[in-house]
Amino acid sequence: MVLRGGIDKQVAERIKSAASHMVQNLMDNDSAMATLSRMISIDPTLYDHSASVAMFSTVMARRQFGDKMPIRDVEILAQSGLYHDAGKSCVPNAILNKPGAFTPEEFEVMKGHVHHGFRELSIAIHAGAPIDPLVAQVAIEHHERFTGKGYPYGKRGRFEDDAENGIHPYSRIISIADAYSALLMKRVYKPALPAEKALELMEKSAPDDFDPMIFEPFVASVKLSLNALRDAREREKTKGNIYMVDKGDSIAAKIAESRKAEAVKSAVTKPKIGA
Ligand SMILES: [Fe+2]
Ligand SMILES: [Fe+2]
Repeated sequence: MVLRGGIDKQVAERIKSAASHMVQNLMDNDSAMATLSRMISIDPTLYDHSASVAMFSTVMARRQFGDKMPIRDVEILAQSGLYHDAGKSCVPNAILNKPGAFTPEEFEVMKGHVHHGFRELSIAIHAGAPIDPLVAQVAIEHHERFTGKGYPYGKRGRFEDDAENGIHPYSRIISIADAYSALLMKRVYKPALPAEKALELMEKSAPDDFDPMIFEPFVASVKLSLNALRDAREREKTKGNIYMVDKGDSIAAKIAESRKAEAVKSAVTKPKIGA
């Protein structure tokens, strides 16, 4: 979702209600992580990148903060996911969809999407669109990295500890959801990865990139969810086999029964030769 048509009041109302519906649907869904991972791997068009970032973030926030995080705040987080790459609408398609590696100049243009997003969202907010200012902050911060190796400002650590140089918690959540979603999806320059492989890669870069207080519960939650899904599939398979055996047995028994009945019937009704 790159919002090519720009952000106006109507678009913002639609996104706000999409975020609200999304949050309501995901709040009680324990297997959401695994289900979303699978859907994106199988068919990325089912849920495009921004929607999946919004949903992963919602599930993460729910797991991490439970009822302590008011629904209104979860909805702002979901909106932040939907808008985080809004600035990509200002990046030329030739760069956005380039199959190979970026030149240093192209990478600079690509990095500009965080500024474009912040500017577009700020303009919309000033024009009265129902968007919380935090959403614009997340748009400019979602490529910052926990140890300061990200862009555009090289912010580091937590906003709670350092309001000037720290990264807002919503941006730290979105950056994890963003990386996970990007790895799962097929792009012109990379294949889609299975959830397990995506997690493995993220675990390698995590010490530099992500807040451990958010990343560790995220990994635990995805693993738990994937295991639960695998167990459920195994149970279904076993149940299916038993069902087939049962079904086969009962069909065989019915056939044998009907053959016996036929034999009895014909023995009774057949005229005896020579009688
Ligand atoms: Fe981005
Ligand atoms: Fe993104």
